[in-house]
Formats: sequence, C-alpha cells, structure tokens
Amino acid sequence: MHAYHLTAQTGPAALQRIELAEPTAGPGQVLVRVRALSLNYRDLMVADGRYGSVELPLVPLSDGAGEIAAVGAGVTNWKVGDRVAGTFFQAWTSGPFRRETLASALGGKLPGMAAEYVALSAEGVIAIPEYLSFAEAATLPCAGLTAWQALVTRGNVSADETVLALGTGGVSLFALQFARLHGARVIITSSDDAKLERARALGADATINYRSHPDWEKEVHRLTGKVGVDQIVEVGGTGTLAKSLRAIAAGGQVHLVGGVSGFSGEIPLLDIIGKMVVVRGIYVGSRGMFAAMNQAIAHRGLRPVIDRIFPFAELAQAYQHQISGAHFGKVVISV
Ligand SMILES: NC(=O)c1ccc[n+]([C@@H]2O[C@H](COP(=O)([O-])OP(=O)(O)OC[C@H]3O[C@@H](n4cnc5c(N)ncnc54)[C@H](OP(=O)(O)O)[C@@H]3O)[C@@H](O)[C@H]2O)c1
Repeated sequence: MHAYHLTAQTGPAALQRIELAEPTAGPGQVLVRVRALSLNYRDLMVADGRYGSVELPLVPLSDGAGEIAAVGAGVTNWKVGDRVAGTFFQAWTSGPFRRETLASALGGKLPGMAAEYVALSAEGVIAIPEYLSFAEAATLPCAGLTAWQALVTRGNVSADETVLALGTGGVSLFALQFARLHGARVIITSSDDAKLERARALGADATINYRSHPDWEKEVHRLTGKVGVDQIVEVGGTGTLAKSLRAIAAGGQVHLVGGVSGFSGEIPLLDIIGKMVVVRGIYVGSRGMFAAMNQAIAHRGLRPVIDRIFPFAELAQAYQHQISGAHFGKVVISV
C-alpha cells in the first residue's frame, strides 16, 4: 500500500512516499481504509521539529477518515463498511486528561494516518455523521474537537455571550461555527479582508483586519461597548495573548490553544487577576467529547469549511499550502 514517511524533522521536503506492507487488525483492533486526511498546524510543527522529537521514520498526520475494512478478534462494536474517523488521542476515551494520554497521539508518539490502511484500537475510532463526506469528516479529530472542547465542553458557551476567534485557520473557523450553533455573537480577525467577507457569510457578526488594525483589541472594545468578549479561542500565542487579555471581559474565559506567532512571551498578570479571567489550556479532546460534537454537528447539519483538497501524491504541496497561510479553513488530502 502507499503511505508516507517523515524521514527527518526538516520540513515537508522530508516527506517520502513509500510502499508499506498492509497492516492487519490485531485483537481489539480495526483495519481502516483511509479515504481522506486533513492537515493541522501541529503537523507542520512535527515536520520541522517544533513539536519536539519523534521517532523517525514516522507515518505523519493525526487526522483521517475512512471505512472499516476488517475487524480483529474480540471486536463487536464495528463491522466492515462502517464510516469512521480516528481519534487524535487513541487512549483518551473519557474522563479527565492524564499525562499518559500524550503517548497515544496519532502522527506524534504513535504512527499517524498518512497511509491507505491503518490498524487502530477499536476504541480509537468513532462513527462520523452520515451526511458528511470523508473529506469533511477528516477535518474533525483535531481542529474541530479542540474548538468544541474549548467553547462547549469547558466554556459552556451561550447565546448571551460574545466569542472572539483569531484568524481564519482550521480551529478558528470551527470556533466560529460552534459559537454560532449556540447562538453566541462572534467577532473574528484575519490578515485578509476577502477572508473576513467569507467569515461573515459563515455567520460572523463583526470582523477585524489585524493587519490594518494592529491594536485590534481596541476594536474589540469598540465593538462590545467597552465590555470586551466573554470567550476567546487563543491560537496566536506570543503576538496575541497580551492583546487577548485586554480584549477579554471581566470574568471571561481565554482558552489557550496554540501559538501561530510563537509559544512564549510575557503574561500580563494584572489583566488576569484584575478581571478575574479564567485562562485555560486546551488539548484536543476525548472520544466522549468527539461523540457529543458529532451529535451536535449532525443535529444542525453543520458542514466543516474545506479550503482545498490535494491528491495523496501531493502531500508535500498540501503542507506548503498551509505553511503559506493562504488557506481559509481546512486543508484536506484525498487518499
Ligand atoms: N491545543 C490543541 O489541542 C490544538 C489543536 C489544534 C491546533 N492547535 C494550535 O492552534 C493554532 C492554530 O492551528 P490551526 O491548525 O487552526 O492553524 P491554521 O489552520 O494553519 O491557521 C493559522 C491561521 O492563523 C492566523 N494567524 C496567523 N498569525 C496570526 C496572528 N498574529 N494573529 C491572529 N491570527 C493569526 C492566520 O489567519 P488569517 O490568514 O485569517 O490571517 C492563519 O491562517 C496552532 O498554533 C496549533 O498548534 C492546538
């Protein structure tokens, strides 16, 4: 079967298309015929070493969807043909997050989904909403679930709140969609006016170009009558956290998700203390949270936003496209 190996942590040029023996479903496992993959910023970081070292060569990518091709001994909850996605953390089914969970991340400590067939634990896959294509379903395991855990599982977002999403990448557009699903008002930022127009079409109530408004937190205050926003899905890191802590309302919640502009920096403690802000780390989510998210998605007929679908032979080009920042939503690869 065709698959990819990341052979060095020096960027997408180190991706090699290879032939691997087709795996078999061991006891307690299912064999998945992978049909679509999606890229996350995290995969770019794994590829260039910013995510820490991984065992090489590595089959990359956490996110994929497909159909069950075989079931191993003892598996009773799946049958051949079932449509599934893999879960980012194979070992986080429910309950609180534990450090050991980290060792079960696909395309990180464990081999990932960039292959025609993968053998996964029967607990490490989840049914996908029927009406979604494999391409759409492949966007859910990391970006979708991260936004869901932040705003819904932890944030308990409601219709009387205003949510701020930063940029128009994968996590942020899911944040926009899930906030709207719960009736919340959404403000979204981007470097690009055309992307902001598209965000409005998706339901954003107000938009800010963070290039033409480098002090975008002041715009947030203007748009909220000097109150600030109730929840922020913080994906920017170094370049945005201090501004987010200015833009948040008293008693608001800042979900620390990522750092597209870096993962360190100064923390203005007085903004956190003085406004009694809840600042919370978020790391993808559990299978139980994934199930709840899928239920809400199917109930409302929500469709993930796909920027572009690349063929499997062009995986490295897909990485380059996401690195360029030209994308709006998710970059997908068909298998
Ligand atoms: N903790 C977790 O579980 C988890 C899960 C998923 C992702 N993450 C992290 O979350 C971040 C986003 O991931 P992703 O996969 O959604 O990335 P992505 O799809 O590549 O999106 C990146 C987007 O961020 C925006 N951006 C870049 N610089 C910015 C800045 N200075 N201020 C505001 N926005 C900026 C750009 O939007 P415009 O083009 O519109 O300007 C860009 O397209 C990454 O740091 C990733 O590691 C964490």
